[in-house]
Amino acid sequence: MSVVTRAEKGRVYLVGAGPGDPELLTLRALRLLESADVIFHDDLVPDEVLALANRRALITSVGKRCGRPRITQAEIHTLMVNSAQAGQSVVRLKSGDPLVFGRAGEEIAALRAAKIQFEVVPGVTAAFAAGAALSLPLTDRKSASKLILCTGHHAAEKQSTTPLWTGTLPEDATVALYMPGRDTARIAAELAAAGLPSDMPCCAISHAATPRQSFVTARLEGLSTLVCGPAPLLLLVGRAMEPLFAVESDARELMPLIERADAGLRDES
Ligand SMILES: C[S@@+](CC[C@H](N)C(=O)[O-])C[C@H]1O[C@@H](n2cnc3c(N)ncnc32)[C@H](O)[C@@H]1O
Repeated sequence: MSVVTRAEKGRVYLVGAGPGDPELLTLRALRLLESADVIFHDDLVPDEVLALANRRALITSVGKRCGRPRITQAEIHTLMVNSAQAGQSVVRLKSGDPLVFGRAGEEIAALRAAKIQFEVVPGVTAAFAAGAALSLPLTDRKSASKLILCTGHHAAEKQSTTPLWTGTLPEDATVALYMPGRDTARIAAELAAAGLPSDMPCCAISHAATPRQSFVTARLEGLSTLVCGPAPLLLLVGRAMEPLFAVESDARELMPLIERADAGLRDES
């Protein structure tokens, strides 16, 4: 028996849109987009994904680009709650996975407080899209037994003082740093202060899983001068990135990076 998902009236769906490639949406996300009355989406959700929505849906961007809010978090809560209470089916569409660095906790709390039924639909988070784009496992049984997802962007009140990491970082981890910002010198100093050695491989990947994807690499000692691609940008740090350094730079094209007609991957280092 096949069950076809349709967005239910009066319900909110917190849906992961994945990293940008519409092909990486889950089937459930696609079905909800095709049937929801209202869609509230973040800035990072591309037009190619929104184009899959039902043509009668009311689609509203509620993104807060570069930390300059056009809309507050509280206003997003009100929009979701009011729409659901008006009997509409609502998709709250977030890039990647909705539960990874997406303020989903606050939205879930607001929905619970208003007694709105909701459901979370996972998506492909940026770190996993980056690993796939680079054809690199993020864990390795010899060198990387841990995967750490962390952020360079903290709540405003903590921003200037909070380090990327408190204490010592395990050397056998792959660190995926979301929202790293442009201050690679600060990141390099903080990773070194957390105990990572100067030869630790780093890779900054921009627009993973989109036609604009590109990456640059450096050892930790050279990270401070690395010129990274445009946002959205993810920094991967760890021994699992070592294969990116295993060949001379002019031979890197020979590496088995993804080759798709619509999504070329370039090494700009
Ligand atoms: C607000 S966080 C949202 C993360 C998202 N929920 C996820 O699971 O990927 C936004 C950050 O995710 C990272 N990111 C999202 N999409 C990306 C992509 N396609 N390529 C590289 N980094 C990406 C960037 O660090 C960006 O600043």
